[in-house]
Amino acid sequence: MSVTSGEFKRVTTHVIQAMKHRGEKIAMLTAYDFSMARILDEAGIDILLVGDSASNVMAGHETTLPITLDQMIYHAQSVVRAVHRAMVVVDMPFGSYQSNSEIALKSAIRIMKESGAHAVKMEGGSEVEESIKRILMAGIPVMGHLGLTPQSIYKFGTYTVRAKEDAEAQKLREDAKLLDHIGCFAMVLEKIPAQLAKEVSESVDIPTIGIGAGGHTDGQVLVTHDMVGITKDFKPRFLRRYLDLFESIGEATQRYIDDVKSRDFPNESEQY
Ligand code: KIV
Repeated sequence: MSVTSGEFKRVTTHVIQAMKHRGEKIAMLTAYDFSMARILDEAGIDILLVGDSASNVMAGHETTLPITLDQMIYHAQSVVRAVHRAMVVVDMPFGSYQSNSEIALKSAIRIMKESGAHAVKMEGGSEVEESIKRILMAGIPVMGHLGLTPQSIYKFGTYTVRAKEDAEAQKLREDAKLLDHIGCFAMVLEKIPAQLAKEVSESVDIPTIGIGAGGHTDGQVLVTHDMVGITKDFKPRFLRRYLDLFESIGEATQRYIDDVKSRDFPNESEQY
């Protein structure tokens, strides 16, 4: 992907796949609103994921399960309005695709039609094969998601590393090949051993994007609010914090409060 004579070229599924084939790493972050999406896009992010992690970081829920299709579409619309270059991928929320492939297709069509996003992401492998195929047949690009799939948190019972045992690792290998074979354009690998992520990344043609899956995936993704330190208490080993915005915004807010209370704000030049 290049920026030529000041003009940004749009990142597409083809661009993402070409990046894998020439060994260029893919950078993905989450975005849920216009202002943040604009900053991340202008900084040159390749993919913006309107993640259902919005349920946690934007709405304060404990899990990703409560967020609705309407709410995901609202977030996606805000992100799409801000973006000139990045590819926008939208998580299909819990309940919008698991029951059957017709409901899945209707949900994916709503996301694409009402938000203007470029692709959808779905958690799971063989369990959701029919739904993924049907969505792909409608011309909608699908990003898969294997490993720790937070929509299944009540099945797992914990957010710990997945696929450490042979049987689960083998299922993940097979699911990764399946997603590649049926035509997903990329897949997220979340919180699995680095060695397994490396093996899977080398065994599939499509790009793998890791979170807590080591350095050998074709790209990396983080939740932006974690990466810039807006979330405070979430400190998994895989997270690198580039800022401590919780602290900085808190300090700025204290200074603002002080200035208002002391009548320092607004001053002569800050009024009409
Ligand atoms: O919802 C989300 O933010 C995600 C990423 C963690 C991959 O699915």
